[in-house]
Amino acid sequence: MSRKRTAILISGRGSNMEALIEAARDPQYPAEIVLVVSNRPEAPGLETAQKAGIPVIAIDHTEFETREDFEKAMQAELEKAKIELVCCAGFMRLMTEWFVETWRNKMLNIHPSLLPAYKGFESHTRVLRDGVRITGCTVHYVRVAMDSGPIISQAAVPILTNDTTETLSARVLEAEHIIYPQALALVAKGLVRVAGEEAKFSGTFKAGPPLISPSM
Ligand code: GRF
Repeated sequence: MSRKRTAILISGRGSNMEALIEAARDPQYPAEIVLVVSNRPEAPGLETAQKAGIPVIAIDHTEFETREDFEKAMQAELEKAKIELVCCAGFMRLMTEWFVETWRNKMLNIHPSLLPAYKGFESHTRVLRDGVRITGCTVHYVRVAMDSGPIISQAAVPILTNDTTETLSARVLEAEHIIYPQALALVAKGLVRVAGEEAKFSGTFKAGPPLISPSM
């Protein structure tokens, strides 16, 4: 089995990155994390990745005139590392159509809500304000519109009576760390195809743990 050469794009803490790196330690895992790129040189995730023995590159987006210039620099690194799949994990830059189309159906993102509900920033704050009872997280293919694109995997996380943004985001994060490695595995094994902007699954695959927050 040839493992898919995968890069992770981060901007900060990198806990999802860590979950992906951890899953990919298993030689049977169908993707290999070969590069971590951050647009913020001070991102704590860079050190975590380095400690895990993954090559890291910081490309400071503030040093580029345009969004596309920054992405061209990133693309050059991705090509140099012969990257086949890209996972955005807390990567806080909007992407141009050029970059998104270059990685069409090869670039994944994780978002802390049950998309298409609660796109954008501070989803947990808005979820709590609205008084909804269930939220969760979503892994999806990246499209130009923020937090949109065919959905690969979701986990539902119930909201508890005394939840705060902190407690809720911590529980959702636990679920994120389960479904992101699962979703990447499905994609890397070639079990997902996109038809009519919907992700379709083929073959037989192990579903893994139920897609519910492990704390419940
Ligand atoms: C996660 O909640 C992810 O869903 C969102 O940004 C956060 C990043 O956290 N896109 P981390 O850097 O992976 O710890």
